[in-house]
This record gives sequence, C-alpha cells and structure tokens, in this order.
Amino acid sequence: MRNIVAGNWKSNKLMGEALKWMEDMSSWMPNRGHVEVMVAPPAPYLSQMASKAPAGLSVIAQNVSPEGPGAHTGEHTAEMLKSCGVSGAIVGHSERRARFGDTDRLVAQKVRALVSEKLQAVFCCGETLEQREAGEAQTVVHAQLKAAILGLDASALPFVVVAYEPIWAIGTGKTASSEEAQAMHGSIRGWLAETFGADKASEVAILYGGSCKPANAHELFSQPDINGGLIGGASLEPLDFQGVVEGHPDSEKG
Ligand code: 13P
Repeated sequence: MRNIVAGNWKSNKLMGEALKWMEDMSSWMPNRGHVEVMVAPPAPYLSQMASKAPAGLSVIAQNVSPEGPGAHTGEHTAEMLKSCGVSGAIVGHSERRARFGDTDRLVAQKVRALVSEKLQAVFCCGETLEQREAGEAQTVVHAQLKAAILGLDASALPFVVVAYEPIWAIGTGKTASSEEAQAMHGSIRGWLAETFGADKASEVAILYGGSCKPANAHELFSQPDINGGLIGGASLEPLDFQGVVEGHPDSEKG
C-alpha cells in the first residue's frame, strides 16, 4: 500500500521562494516515515526543483502534453519531464477542466502519455456542489474514472494515483467530512477492484484533496481508503505542509 502526500502549488511562488521551500523541506525530510512526499511547482521551476529535491521527495508537474514531440507550441511532453528528473504530473484537475478545456478525452490522453513513460499520473476527479446535492456525486466520479482509466493495462496501475477532490471543498475552507470522503474513496476502490481485480486495486493510492490542513489531516488519512492527500493552500508553507504529512498515521509522528 502506498501512502502519498502531494502539494499542488498552482500558480503561486516565485523562483527564490520555491528554492527556499525546498531547502526548508530538505532538513525535515528524514521525519516523513512511510509517506511518499511530492510537490507540483509551476513548470518553469521543475528542473531546478528536481535537481535539489532530497530523497523521498519527488517533483511532479501540474500539467503534461497529450501529444508527443512536434509542432505543439507551449506544450511539454512526458518525455521532456522525465529528462528533467520530474516524476509525473497532475492531470484532470477541476481548475483545468473548468477553465482550460481539459476534457475527459484530453485527460485520458494525458494519463496515457505519462504512464507510457513510466511516470506517475496523479489523476483528479470530483463533483460540484450541485451534483452532490442532486445525489449524483458517485455517478460523476465513476464516469470520470471510466473516461480516463478504463482500458489501461493493469501493468500501468503502479503509475496511477487517484485524487478525489470534491470541487466544493477546493480552496473554500469547507472539507468533506471523513465519512463523506471515505464513502467516495471506498466506491473508487470498488470501481478499481471491479475493473482490475482487488489485488491491483488495493495498491493504488487514493488521495483526498480539498481544504486539507494540519488540523484535519489525521482524521481524513486514518480512513481505510484514504491513503494521503493532494494539498493546495497548505502546501505553500513548509511548516503547514509538514504538519499535513505528520498527520498521516504512517508518518513518523502519525
Ligand atoms: P486546497 O487545499 O487549497 O483546497 O486545494 C486543493 C487542490 O485543489 C489541490 O489540487
């Protein structure tokens, strides 16, 4: 079973601040216990951040091209990320789905681009408040999973991480309760088990994202199907991020 806490900086921090963050994390990293730590800084800092990352902390991108090399202005391919020491990328984040045209089809292509390079695809799914209130949350999330993950060979699963991020909880200070989150994570695990078999499904890390912080991390990460988190705001300051990692029951302090 993998435990992962990943930070998503979105469009925050300048280069100097990014390097200071990495320096602060480096002296703390030996305390992480059995939790893989990842950070997704803005693209211009990836190479330098990756070259300074301590053992146990991997650097991932916030996006990847659905295409290979060629005439695709502004895109970075999975192979390019790999050549910079980057370990994977976030795909299907609701902010990209809502504002930058990342359709289910494009997300599926991006997942494939990553796993074919043996890079981690941190695949995000989640429902809006309206969909939850209409009782459609599980249907929406299963449809997103089906669109992006169905059809992958089971051998690709070690390169897939699922992040359940209810859209109404992102950046709002409103967290899903541990019961709500566990119910969805259990159903995601169930879908993976039906699709790839229970053994394979049990090895996929399913992360929770949405207003996760040091104060609620332990309660969330203690649920049977919540293997860690994808953290926005609370990943920006090293002390907050460390507090979230330390909330994991499999961390040194958990
Ligand atoms: P917040 O932790 O700021 O709610 O963001 C969550 C998120 O979108 C991580 O990808």
